[in-house]
Amino acid sequence: MTARRTVDPAIWRGLLESQPGKGAGVGDLRRRFRKVEEPRLDLGVFAGPGRRVEPGYRSVAYKEAFSPGLVRAILDGWSDLDGPLLDPFAGMGTSLLVASERGMSSCGIEMLPYPCWATGVLIRAHEATPEQLTEIASVATAKALRSRRTTPDRALAAPAASWALPPEVLRVLGSIQRALPDRGSGVDADFLHLALLSVVEGVSRSVKDGTSLRHRARQREGRTRRPGRKDQLLSPREVAAAFVAAVEGLCDDLPKMPNGSQAAVVGGDARRMPLMSGTIGAAIFSPPYPNRYDYSAIYQLELAFGGFVTSSVELQGLRKRLLRSHLEAPPVTRPVLDDPAVLGILRSTADAAEGGPSERGRTLRMLVGYFDDMHQALSELVRVLRPGAPAACVVGTQTYFGQPVPTDLMLASIAERIGLAVERIWVLRHKRVAVQQRARGATAGGGRESVVVFRRP
Ligand SMILES: C[S@@+](CC[C@H](N)C(=O)[O-])C[C@H]1O[C@@H](n2cnc3c(N)ncnc32)[C@H](O)[C@@H]1O
Repeated sequence: MTARRTVDPAIWRGLLESQPGKGAGVGDLRRRFRKVEEPRLDLGVFAGPGRRVEPGYRSVAYKEAFSPGLVRAILDGWSDLDGPLLDPFAGMGTSLLVASERGMSSCGIEMLPYPCWATGVLIRAHEATPEQLTEIASVATAKALRSRRTTPDRALAAPAASWALPPEVLRVLGSIQRALPDRGSGVDADFLHLALLSVVEGVSRSVKDGTSLRHRARQREGRTRRPGRKDQLLSPREVAAAFVAAVEGLCDDLPKMPNGSQAAVVGGDARRMPLMSGTIGAAIFSPPYPNRYDYSAIYQLELAFGGFVTSSVELQGLRKRLLRSHLEAPPVTRPVLDDPAVLGILRSTADAAEGGPSERGRTLRMLVGYFDDMHQALSELVRVLRPGAPAACVVGTQTYFGQPVPTDLMLASIAERIGLAVERIWVLRHKRVAVQQRARGATAGGGRESVVVFRRP
């Protein structure tokens, strides 16, 4: 009998300890890529979701999305483009919808089941029949309001549901959901379920604020303009009215939405793309940033209410499978990251790390895991791109323990190491460094959001 091989769970620490003091610092990396850097502050407003004002893009809020104007500007800069356009971190499908506007085929990969399913619905907008949607919605809300049920039909597998969704609100949402045709039974049914999911945050007591789901009463001043009222408790009629308004908004938009018949989205992992080698004509994507943001926590209400996760174990499993951009991510056990420049910067961050062992350890573990994951995702990108195909990656930088973590330059360095040519780095906007990081010695003007443009030689 062979002995079972055990993997040291702290193997990631070894990456921070080997080659002490070696590897490029942030300054070396800045000098290395200075020649390809180009300020594009004119596109800064498109880096986030602020300009998702057009039909198809505004229908469902996704705080982490970029605006279609950015995808259009990137595509406009590429000549002789051939599809399909890939987005391996598809989110709410912005890249796929813009490709559809231009008659270009596209495919998306997304691990979080809620946005993955929602993208699948949005790209089929052209098949929906708006006249029927409003009719079904008003019958369903009338039935829900007549219901004699006084308690919700089920508890949600989301820890935040206990404070974020008062039983009265959850009861009405659940009654409307049950009165609709089943999700998956047709395009119209799916649009109605999408409208219902799109109002969950607005009728709840929670708000997606910074890196967490907060109680509205404790929302940080001036941080957000998410829908809903502070410490609200909506009546059943108000919950029903929010749903009907969402359906009407979707119906108004439907005729103007792009025809996505040449688009497809699959649930999957960007580190192991379910795609044949050398088949992709271009890629535009924005991966999670290494900023402690946990998509499974932020979208837990939609995931649980939509039935995408049915137990806390499933939710935890999803959290552990997502890209390691957050503190609950498991440690890397078989690292592939070998870029001396990236490891050098991570080592400087480790040297500067302070705080209790738990905070320090989890942050460093996340950073090593993140760049290791992105090494795998970029390697997959090289594999699936056709020779000569371009790709653009939208990403923001971070600061930890007062040390800059220039994620854009670090990803550019990894990309070069695995065989992509870095053609340009568009600097879209500068970000302020958080007060705690400034107190730890970080300079005020260090952060930024950029587009790293590569090409497979
Ligand atoms: C910054 S968002 C992308 C938003 C997208 N550009 C849009 O406009 O909607 C990053 C996305 O990556 C997804 N994600 C996280 N880990 C993933 C993985 N391993 N494979 C594929 N997608 C993943 C997240 O769920 C999230 O939707």
